[in-house]
Amino acid sequence: MKEKEEIKKICEKVIARIRPDEAERNKVKAVTDFIIAKINKKASEMGIEAHAISVGSTARNTWVSGEADIDIFIMFPEEVSEEYLKEEGLALAKSIADKYEERYASHPYIHAYFYDSEGKEHEADLVPCFSVKNASGLKSAVDRTPFHNEYIVKRMPGLEDEVLLLKQFLKSAGIYGSEQRRKGFSGYLCELLILRYFSFVELLKNASRWKYGEKIDIEGRGRYKGKDPLIVIDPVDPNRNVAAAVSLDSFCRLIDVARDFLACPAESFFYPAKKKEMSKAEFVKFVKERGTEFVMVLFEAPDVVEDILFPQLRKAEASVTSMIERHGFRVYRSEVSVEAEKAFLIFELLVWNLPQVKKHIGPPVTSKYHSEQFKSKYKSFSLRIEDGRYVVEVKRKYTDVVELLKNELRSCSLGKHVSESIDRGYDVLRNEEIMFSEGIGSFFSDYFLN
Ligand code: UTP
Ligand code: MN
Ligand code: MN
Repeated sequence: MKEKEEIKKICEKVIARIRPDEAERNKVKAVTDFIIAKINKKASEMGIEAHAISVGSTARNTWVSGEADIDIFIMFPEEVSEEYLKEEGLALAKSIADKYEERYASHPYIHAYFYDSEGKEHEADLVPCFSVKNASGLKSAVDRTPFHNEYIVKRMPGLEDEVLLLKQFLKSAGIYGSEQRRKGFSGYLCELLILRYFSFVELLKNASRWKYGEKIDIEGRGRYKGKDPLIVIDPVDPNRNVAAAVSLDSFCRLIDVARDFLACPAESFFYPAKKKEMSKAEFVKFVKERGTEFVMVLFEAPDVVEDILFPQLRKAEASVTSMIERHGFRVYRSEVSVEAEKAFLIFELLVWNLPQVKKHIGPPVTSKYHSEQFKSKYKSFSLRIEDGRYVVEVKRKYTDVVELLKNELRSCSLGKHVSESIDRGYDVLRNEEIMFSEGIGSFFSDYFLN
């Protein structure tokens, strides 16, 4: 009982801090209405049959105070072509923004900035989409969103605070957001989890007992067959898992932090841990104590969105790791990141230096044909028999992992944009050669302390 009171008190305190007050809500609503009116007016001037709607957390009162991003979808008739939607939709969005960036992940959209009469900046995502009849008959990746919005808006009233608590809790744990860099929980997923369990605390109690493959199907009509750590059937499209982007580690992180909070509730769970940047001297000391070797492959971050870049970096990480190990070295741990325009792969190695000598194992002596071939190929080598096979000693091509990376990196499969950037040049740095430019200190503090 005491515990329950304690949790209630903490949640009330947190809510008071993160719930938008009336002034903020009014402001967001005013800016949203202003943008929608501007889009609709411009559309009719341009002779475009399209209209704007408000979606996302600002349409559902589930945004964390101070972090409003206004999501506006521009709905086009289903009949128009994809090119038309893209060209006219983006042109329309650009024409009404004070400032904008064109963004593109699976779908092109405009990230726009607006300045109000006080000069305050407001950010909005302006996304063209098709107004399809139902959510499983989509034409583009974002056509479900208006259906999500309709579903949530109807059911959310009264549960907003619970969503806010969950979002803030996940943010502090570093697992809020479904972007490729993070692979965590999206805003819509948070809303569905609360609709399923009705409260933040009830969700945590359940999450603390989740098993791999946990399935949540609010409407009971799921037809999703994939294998993911967490499966949350999309109520508007039974073939889709809303939690498909949640990685195994993000899933487990929630389970872990839910148990910790329930065992020992505290307000600190809702504050991101204060990160202390690691200095270069501390890094060098750590490395020395661990006795491992750090090797960084550093290059210019290609000019593409992170949702495209991160999968390529992880692919490169896997393919370089296997090349390193194929050459006899041993990788203990590896990571990728992008900090201040620089992308890098980092490898922590157990074995980074090897002797010249390398054992090359040949065929079993009993296999006559292959033995003859092998013997003639290695005529000038001294041949011996080990465990019934021919063995020769050859000279290892690379005895130092840095030499290997300097010479053979391009032979790995790196992904299109990463590969192009590496072709323009890259550095391979070891231990104290690693430069502590912007972001590297906090990258390593995460690496060692988390
Ligand atoms: P947001 O990422 O802005 O999330 O996507 P949100 O739910 O508003 O949460 P916060 O509070 O801003 O973090 C807004 C809407 O756009 C859709 C989602 O379904 C969401 O409802 N969306 C977003 C897509 O369909 N595709 C995307 O790539 C991104
Ligand atoms: Mn949003
Ligand atoms: Mn958004």
